[in-house]
Amino acid sequence: MIIQEYYRNFENHNRILEKYINDRTPNNIKNILKISLTLISFSNKPNYAIVNDAVEVSKEYKKEKLVNAVLRNILKNINDIKYEKYIYPEFKTVIDKIFSSKSIRDYIYSAIFKKPKNYQISLTDKNSAVYCKRVFMLDKKILKGCIVQDIGNFEAIKATHIFFKDKNLIDICAAPGGKSILLNSLGFNVLSIDKSQNQINKFKENLIRLNLKLDIHKVDFLDEKFTDKYNSILLDAPCSALGTFRRNPDVTIKIDQSLIKKHQKIQFKMLEKSLEILNLGGFLVYIVCSFHPFETIDVIDKIIQKHQNVKIHDVVSNKMIKRQNGYFINPLTFKNIGGSDIFFVSVLEKI
Ligand SMILES: C[S@@+](CC[C@H](N)C(=O)[O-])C[C@H]1O[C@@H](n2cnc3c(N)ncnc32)[C@H](O)[C@@H]1O
Repeated sequence: MIIQEYYRNFENHNRILEKYINDRTPNNIKNILKISLTLISFSNKPNYAIVNDAVEVSKEYKKEKLVNAVLRNILKNINDIKYEKYIYPEFKTVIDKIFSSKSIRDYIYSAIFKKPKNYQISLTDKNSAVYCKRVFMLDKKILKGCIVQDIGNFEAIKATHIFFKDKNLIDICAAPGGKSILLNSLGFNVLSIDKSQNQINKFKENLIRLNLKLDIHKVDFLDEKFTDKYNSILLDAPCSALGTFRRNPDVTIKIDQSLIKKHQKIQFKMLEKSLEILNLGGFLVYIVCSFHPFETIDVIDKIIQKHQNVKIHDVVSNKMIKRQNGYFINPLTFKNIGGSDIFFVSVLEKI
């Protein structure tokens, strides 16, 4: 909670501190002050304890007097602290580029400053679910046979799985297993691969809790030589995670274009290799939890420019917005149950 608030109010705290420190204050001291401000404004910890802890930590940098003085001054003027809804311009530009509807944009802007609701997805149909017989709110307890994930993730699979005619499916970036587990619950026989042991361990923990068995392999997709071809491929590619800004507010702060270009290169390579191992007439579903054009519209554009044997299919979902080459989850359609992350999906057929 504190980490989220730290990043949600990053610019507010920079502006508050401007009055008390100068450019020469070392970054680690600025960080200690910003963490303290977050705790003062968003935790129940007593202020004297927050100041004491900050002073203790800053002794290591021989700046305890400065930290003590700044925090005491801030506390003296605590009523002057005003939190504004500051949106980093680069983040706003990307939102404005993708979402032409003002009501959707306004909803997204407001979502940046709210804690997201958590969902749990039942792996079997349940009539009491809040959405589509499967989605429950996560209040306190995780229900038996449920997996915790965002409703947008659920929607991405719900809207695209019908393209997979062959129930034998390879999930290329599978861990920690959210989509593989959903697909398994929809009757797919999933071969899950991922290159990260850490992520695979989380996947295995999920499987143990759910009492499920899935076929998981630690494989670097880009290095692996495949002898088999597939009719059904899911590629949930690594990305900037911009669409998860409510849970990871740090992604809104500095959009690093060159890093996103690097993601695009990897996504492009993964898409090309997926097409290589896709049978003619087979379907490849590409998903990213981002709405940056580089990782969504543009990367698919590059693919269809280079590979003329690829057809993009329309998706039927009243929870998504159609854009060039694919669809974005419309979080406004989940407003009444707490909103969603924003995913991009594109359905490719090899013709
Ligand atoms: C967006 S996450 C996948 C989330 C997962 N599909 C889910 O729904 O829970 C991306 C995953 O891609 C994996 N990954 C990145 N590069 C990879 C590669 N070259 N081969 C296989 N997996 C890779 C990462 O380890 C990470 O777990």
